[in-house]
Amino acid sequence: MSDLNAIKKPIAAEIKAYHKVFRSTIRSKVPLLDIIMKYIMKTKGKEIRPIIVLYSARMMGEISEETYYAATLIELLHTATLVHDDVVDDSNRRRGLFSVNALWKNKIAVLAGDYLLAKGLLLAVETHNPHLLEFVSKATRDMSEGELLQIEKARKLDISENVYFEIIKKKTASLLASCFATGALSTINDREAIEKLWKVGELTGIAFQIMDDLLDYKKTSVTGKPSGIDIKEKKITLPLIYLLEQSDTKNRRRIVRTIKRQPAEPQKIEALIREVQSSGGMEYARKKMLEYKNKAIELLHDFPDNEGRRVLEEIIEFTISRTK
Ligand code: IPE
Ligand code: IPE
Ligand code: MG
Ligand code: MG
Repeated sequence: MSDLNAIKKPIAAEIKAYHKVFRSTIRSKVPLLDIIMKYIMKTKGKEIRPIIVLYSARMMGEISEETYYAATLIELLHTATLVHDDVVDDSNRRRGLFSVNALWKNKIAVLAGDYLLAKGLLLAVETHNPHLLEFVSKATRDMSEGELLQIEKARKLDISENVYFEIIKKKTASLLASCFATGALSTINDREAIEKLWKVGELTGIAFQIMDDLLDYKKTSVTGKPSGIDIKEKKITLPLIYLLEQSDTKNRRRIVRTIKRQPAEPQKIEALIREVQSSGGMEYARKKMLEYKNKAIELLHDFPDNEGRRVLEEIIEFTISRTK
């Protein structure tokens, strides 16, 4: 299994420099915002996105100030969407601690998320980087569309495998793709290479979200987030889609009814979670995830074999072997 500490080691100094930019960017003179921002700094996650930005730059050239801006902007947007996502999903844990909405309620969490988003976009404007701004604004648009499409499907419960992939492409893969692209963009100006890296990131992002959805079905949550929350939020992910597609009409109706009626019948939901776990749906999702991961690595191999590329490959492997 690839290990995140080993991945971070060769660029420890650069990660430190990135932290400095991140910390100074989110500072606010409004006391309440400052307290929330300090809390967010304390609960930083895996930081997989800024790490990708840094290594993508390293693979193509030299890490520079521009690279730190890109890494900061992307992690700010990511954090903003997580703060909002926990409001949307009504989730009270994040990164092993309370979520912002759990501590300060929805109203404040929405505004704090907006603040993070605005600070991120301002960073691109202030550092005169229109390309970076374009990539990341598009990813933000995609994330909103993906989350809204997901909500629409959660209402009607009529999701197919194709729509599932459309959702995760938008809500997760687009930002991962931006990490690979903007890291390279901070050092080179080669459109074709940047487009190809975007694709590597998109494939990685799809695998990443399938893994996230698999982790949600794991029996004991080690992710620092609640487990089994997706089905309770009527979020239908790949393992459940597989079960639905394997079921006859009668069983399909029963499953949909169980999901619709909750939280009235919590035992039925627990039984359904077990049904998904023993349906072969987890294995099917895992198979799909590996396909995307392998495609990402194959495409990455078009780039020069150097330290940056080797670690990016490790990061892609980490995406699908991670436990949180
Ligand atoms: C969580 O992303 C949101 C998804 C796209 C699944 P991460 O798993 O990268 O979250 P942190 O930043 O490490 O907490
Ligand atoms: C990913 O969706 C969140 C975003 C891309 C904004 P999830 O709702 O599955 O993410 P987690 O599991 O809460 O981190
Ligand atoms: Mg969520
Ligand atoms: Mg999830």
